[in-house]
Amino acid sequence: MKKLRCALLGATGLAGQQFVAALASHPWFELTGLAASTRSAGKHYMEALRRPNGMSGWFLSEPLPSRIASMPVVAGDALDVGLFDIVFSAVAADVALALEPVYAQRLPVISTASAFRYGDDVPLLLPPINAEHSQLIEKQKQQRGFEGFIAPNPKGAAIGLALSLAPLVQNYGVKAVLMTSMQAISGAGRAPGVAALDILENIIPYIPKEEGKVEIETKKILGQMDTPHAMKVSCTCTRVPVLEGHTESVFVSLEKPASVEELAQTMHAWQGTEVSQKLPSAPPRWIEVMDDPFRPQVRLDRDMHAGMATIVGRIREDDVLENGFKYVLVSHNTKMGAAKGALLIAEMLYAQGRIRSSTNT
Ligand SMILES: NC(=O)c1ccc[n+]([C@@H]2O[C@H](COP(=O)([O-])OP(=O)(O)OC[C@H]3O[C@@H](n4cnc5c(N)ncnc54)[C@H](OP(=O)(O)O)[C@@H]3O)[C@@H](O)[C@H]2O)c1
Repeated sequence: MKKLRCALLGATGLAGQQFVAALASHPWFELTGLAASTRSAGKHYMEALRRPNGMSGWFLSEPLPSRIASMPVVAGDALDVGLFDIVFSAVAADVALALEPVYAQRLPVISTASAFRYGDDVPLLLPPINAEHSQLIEKQKQQRGFEGFIAPNPKGAAIGLALSLAPLVQNYGVKAVLMTSMQAISGAGRAPGVAALDILENIIPYIPKEEGKVEIETKKILGQMDTPHAMKVSCTCTRVPVLEGHTESVFVSLEKPASVEELAQTMHAWQGTEVSQKLPSAPPRWIEVMDDPFRPQVRLDRDMHAGMATIVGRIREDDVLENGFKYVLVSHNTKMGAAKGALLIAEMLYAQGRIRSSTNT
């Protein structure tokens, strides 16, 4: 099979680097174009990654693929759309707001940025949960006159929460959710990111705009295509001195009574939509439930199933809420929460026939 040619906007950033690693040996997609800011344009990727003090800015423990290291980087607005089948976008929201619609005129744009997540013609896809929301893409094409489209992935902090809630929504109904997150510093990216002097030996109790976005996105992901889920969601989002992986403490009020064992079994057995189960980046299980009360631990568990699993533990009854339960979850913010989550969306849209190779047709 001829692989689809992919361009990557924001290739030098933290999410961008995760795309580079995830696409290195992908069975369907091949990375053939790199773009970043004018600071990086005109350099080879390796050179563009170099920090002002000379240190390499390659952030991952996986080696940088040599083919990519020597690829040229162009400016964000300089990709030749005729050369690609897909654009992956990993830029800040203001940059995405300007650039993504330009590329969507011709191509599918799969984005980690928030710029278009809340449009009523934009699906917020989490393939195991709401694969059928991709029909919204037709409305988007019509309304915006795009030949391509924009499909963003949800916030990292909303992904683990929505995945853990999906089996509960489907089996018991969910009335209300309270969530406190302990989010990794990599979630803030590198430009400007979180300063070491602010975060070491500290917890920052506020992440601007995060809580409202997680609340809206959780309901949009779990709702119908054009109607958010009616559950109430209230969040406190904090930043903690952890490199990668978000931990969340969740309290949930169900419509129907259940037991701790039933909840654990329901989450463990949940398989998600049929289309999502066979995708190349799909983990063997979307949710892993741990019995050990000292787990999940972010450092030990975030990389389970290559960073694509949501790991749930400490499931207990809660006496304050009606049909109340509480649990702790861990999910990987730059893998499932960003690049690999976006890649999973692209795989699903390809499997659904919404992304095609322009050279094969
Ligand atoms: N980090 C996470 O865990 C995470 C999770 C979910 C979603 N996201 C989202 O993913 C996006 C990227 O986040 P990040 O953490 O990777 O940020 P980052 O590390 O700060 O990287 C930003 C990237 O954008 C590039 N860029 C800046 N201006 C540009 C322009 N005008 N045209 C093209 N590229 C430009 C930068 O290139 P230069 O190197 O040349 O400056 C860099 O490659 C954001 O929207 C963020 O909210 C991130």
